[in-house]
Amino acid sequence: MMRREDLAEVARIEQEAYVFPWSHGIFRDCLKAGHSCWVLAWPDELVGYGILSVAAGEAHILNLCVSPNHQCAGHGRRLLRRLLDLARWHGATRVYLEVRPSNVAALRLYLSENFVEIGRRPRYYPAIQGREDAIVMMRKLAPDQPDQPA
Ligand SMILES: CC(C)(COP(=O)(O)OP(=O)(O)OC[C@H]1O[C@@H](n2cnc3c(N)ncnc32)[C@H](O)[C@@H]1OP(=O)(O)O)[C@@H](O)C(=O)NCCC(=O)NCCS
Repeated sequence: MMRREDLAEVARIEQEAYVFPWSHGIFRDCLKAGHSCWVLAWPDELVGYGILSVAAGEAHILNLCVSPNHQCAGHGRRLLRRLLDLARWHGATRVYLEVRPSNVAALRLYLSENFVEIGRRPRYYPAIQGREDAIVMMRKLAPDQPDQPA
């Protein structure tokens, strides 16, 4: 779980990982709003984080990020699966996210975890030259299974 004390480190990683990073204040607002905000500590260094909002059976992945020093080691997939578990646990049956078409690493990760493209938002993101579309992706979730008696 992300705590207020993690925010400085989270915002530092965000600056390193994105050309157009979220501000410290956006992360603080996510905590205040009660979104599911998680950090991955490996073993005790903060290597990544993920933020999920859930309402009315729909979950949205708002951010998923691994520190550039720790990418390509399976942490992104681990975090994504944690967010999917949380979404299921909160009763969501569909999970949505947006991704830049130029973000090949993230696209490959999401496709390999059974997300499918359901649409595009034209000129959604700021880009170095003008704007960039967002690919909207969705994945259905099987409902959470109640524990079976042993
Ligand atoms: C996208 C991101 C979260 C992936 O995290 P990661 O820890 O590096 O990814 P993993 O090591 O778990 O790899 C998972 C899959 O992602 C894909 N992938 C990861 N890095 C890749 C790269 N450099 N090139 C192509 N595919 C890549 C692969 O499909 C990989 O599966 P594989 O190892 O079986 O081939 C990470 O690159 C990141 O934080 N990027 C900056 C922030 C960002 O763009 N977030 C997504 C916003 S929508």
